[in-house]
Amino acid sequence: MKKILILNGPNLNLLGQRQPDIYGSQTLNDILSPLIDNCLKHDIEATTVQSNHEGVLIDTLHQWGTDPDCVGIIFNAGAYTHTSLAMADAIRSIKTPVIEVHLSNTAAREEIRHCSMIAPVCRGTIAGFGAMSYKLALMAIIDTLGH
Ligand code: DQA
Repeated sequence: MKKILILNGPNLNLLGQRQPDIYGSQTLNDILSPLIDNCLKHDIEATTVQSNHEGVLIDTLHQWGTDPDCVGIIFNAGAYTHTSLAMADAIRSIKTPVIEVHLSNTAAREEIRHCSMIAPVCRGTIAGFGAMSYKLALMAIIDTLGH
């Protein structure tokens, strides 16, 4: 069975209670559950991982990014997006396409959020659509990447 990883970085475990004016009232589980169901309809097994730790996120990218059954990784790197050269290098080191997602439109926020260290090494970026950013990324994997 083909697999997809949905990887979430720091502070996204607090969705629902964290700055709901920016990130909405849904929990991470609320956002991810329908995606897992949708994957199953396409005979794809979705695994979700959330970590607040940079090294764990990198280890997870290595593990899934070298699994030949893994057809795509949907990745919200949280604030590591803007700071982590190590995260960019990890994505550069794997073959599986990674789609960068953000709930908020980072380009419309503080200047420090305008730069993404990982954007140049991702297959594409979807930002600003709340939970739908993840849905659109999944559509991109299923449709564009041919699975
Ligand atoms: C975020 C945007 C980042 O700038 C921020 O640090 C987050 C969440 C988003 O999904 O909008 O933690 O990745």
